[in-house]
Amino acid sequence: MKTQTRAVFHCLSILILTVQVSQPVCVDVTPETEAVLGSTMKLSCIACMKREEINAETEVHWHYITKDRSKNITIFRYRGTPEAVGEIWKDRLTWNGSKDLQDVSISIKNVTLNDTGTYECLVFRKFFYDSYTPSFVENRTINLVVLEKAGDDKTAFYSEIMMYVLLVFLTFWLLVEMIYCYRKISKSDEQAQDNTTDYLVIPSENKENPGPPVTE
Ligand SMILES: *[C@@H]1O[C@H](CO)[C@@H](O)[C@H](O)[C@H]1NC(C)=O
Ligand SMILES: *[C@@H]1O[C@H](CO)[C@@H](O)[C@H](O)[C@H]1NC(C)=O
Ligand SMILES: *[C@@H]1O[C@H](CO)[C@@H](O)[C@H](O)[C@H]1NC(C)=O
Ligand SMILES: *[C@@H]1O[C@H](CO)[C@@H](O)[C@H](O)[C@H]1NC(C)=O
Ligand SMILES: *[C@@H]1O[C@H](CO)[C@@H](O)[C@H](O)[C@H]1NC(C)=O
Repeated sequence: MKTQTRAVFHCLSILILTVQVSQPVCVDVTPETEAVLGSTMKLSCIACMKREEINAETEVHWHYITKDRSKNITIFRYRGTPEAVGEIWKDRLTWNGSKDLQDVSISIKNVTLNDTGTYECLVFRKFFYDSYTPSFVENRTINLVVLEKAGDDKTAFYSEIMMYVLLVFLTFWLLVEMIYCYRKISKSDEQAQDNTTDYLVIPSENKENPGPPVTE
């Protein structure tokens, strides 16, 4: 009887865990800021919502601010439907967000050097609760840099260096540890020898580091 109850509890907890895991999770990501000329660039903008806030009305504005910050152009809007605006951008921008509007990213096709600049994503949210409808604005900015050709992947490069540093460090540490152990073992060996050959004087092999005095 007891084991049965326990089994039921066990299965129940697994079930609960599974249900929780299978729910969509909103994870904020750090947007990429480097694009390669001619490629397609995803401008990531993620505005997570808590579960109880899902009943919300969302509007998204994307602005482009030129490098010298002299111009601030609206390039994309999401108001019920996605819509590219700004002339230069119109044909190159596509909606790349999610249905629940937690991910409100867009993509630029055929990136040009002129696309360098700041992209601002503004998310307007209105929540519908029983008695009140609070609204919030969230903004993210991406400072996009367009490279003429694909450079070395910096993160891969750094992680490779880190790996080598770690490897060297570990090897060194292992060496130190081995020397330490060797010394300890030989020392205890020496001591053991001292105990057995109490009256025999053994010339010390290691002159710089003589062990405990052999005889009194
Ligand atoms: C760009 O303009 C919009 C309104 O058109 C404004 O909400 C936003 O704050 C501006 N961004 C900057 C960086 O000036
Ligand atoms: C949205 O972005 C993903 C990469 O994160 C890409 O695989 C997908 O094709 C994009 N969808 C559209 C419609 O651009
Ligand atoms: C964009 O890229 C496509 C191929 O991916 C190319 O055919 C087209 O000419 C490009 N458009 C511009 C404006 O560079
Ligand atoms: C970039 O901008 C300059 C002037 O602002 C323009 O003359 C040039 O044609 C643009 N290049 C592209 C690829 O759009
Ligand atoms: C939103 O943008 C304004 C300027 O337009 C800035 O002062 C503020 O710090 C930004 N907030 C966040 C959360 O980035």
